[in-house]
Amino acid sequence: MAKKRVLSGMRPTGRLHLGHLVGALENWVKLQEQYECFYMIADWHGLMSEYTDPSQLSELIRDNVVDWISSGIDPEKSTIFIQSQVPEHAELHLLLSMIIPLGWLERCPTYKEQLRELSAKDVNTYAFLGYPVLQTADILLYKAEAVPVGEDQLPHLELAREIVRRFTHLYRKDVFLEPEPILTKTPRLLGIDNRKMSKSYDNFIALSDEPGVVAEKTQRMITDPKRIKLSDPGHPEVCNVYSYYEVFKKESLDEVSDWCRNAKLGCTECKKNLAEVLNEGLKGIQTKRKELLKDTGTIDSIVKEGNEKAAQIAKATFSQAREAVGL
Ligand code: TRP
Repeated sequence: MAKKRVLSGMRPTGRLHLGHLVGALENWVKLQEQYECFYMIADWHGLMSEYTDPSQLSELIRDNVVDWISSGIDPEKSTIFIQSQVPEHAELHLLLSMIIPLGWLERCPTYKEQLRELSAKDVNTYAFLGYPVLQTADILLYKAEAVPVGEDQLPHLELAREIVRRFTHLYRKDVFLEPEPILTKTPRLLGIDNRKMSKSYDNFIALSDEPGVVAEKTQRMITDPKRIKLSDPGHPEVCNVYSYYEVFKKESLDEVSDWCRNAKLGCTECKKNLAEVLNEGLKGIQTKRKELLKDTGTIDSIVKEGNEKAAQIAKATFSQAREAVGL
């Protein structure tokens, strides 16, 4: 039986960090075994927020691809490609824009939220309103049955499903599939300052951070504010460092909890230990990363091959869509 197809994407707007690893990449890696996976660098989507200074974009695209592969995305199993290199994404986006009532987009909760949240950037643009339309085009071109996404992306998936129904209803042709989300319970890692882990807060530990940097960032993490002296018993349930142990060293939780509740180990030591855990976990990724970066030609050819494979499928689907509309 043919494997079901999965498509997912990331915007290349910054270096990848621990949140990307546990929130998406580890799951993407697992999906490779069961599905035919397409993993896309959503550079058009990236440009929507970075258009005033896109100078970093091309470097970040390669850097993110390197992190994907280093984290276990296997180009032999999965297709890695760049959205803007497959022109059908832009074309289908335009075609779909014909049939989508403005209200669907204006009502989208992520749209309203982003306008508020990204207040430092002017995202009051034509393109930004159409963000989910482009995302829909991404998914539909590959007739992906399943899309692994975070919870925040569910409204986009629902919109994609509605758009498919509208297209089918208008043109009486079953060109597209209604995609299903794959929601995995991923732990929510906060940034080192206890806020949402984000590039704009500069509060993340990057997959490419050197051990010294990881140690320094870990040392800045916020612990139980009530634990002032070493002899004060701590409360792991309110400690961000403990929540990292929950994700990265589950088997030691009893021990870590004992250090804290029974005031056996100070926060500084506890953080030092965490840094070791994190560096140990990142070691494999970073070794692979350095190896890949020695030979950028290989990365470029992986992406080129991925683009070609993606384009083949995208072309076929887009021509069916054109035909359905009668163009
Ligand atoms: N909007 C997604 C995000 O910010 C990225 C993305 C673009 C995507 N196109 C996609 C995700 C298609 C899944 C499918 O996370």
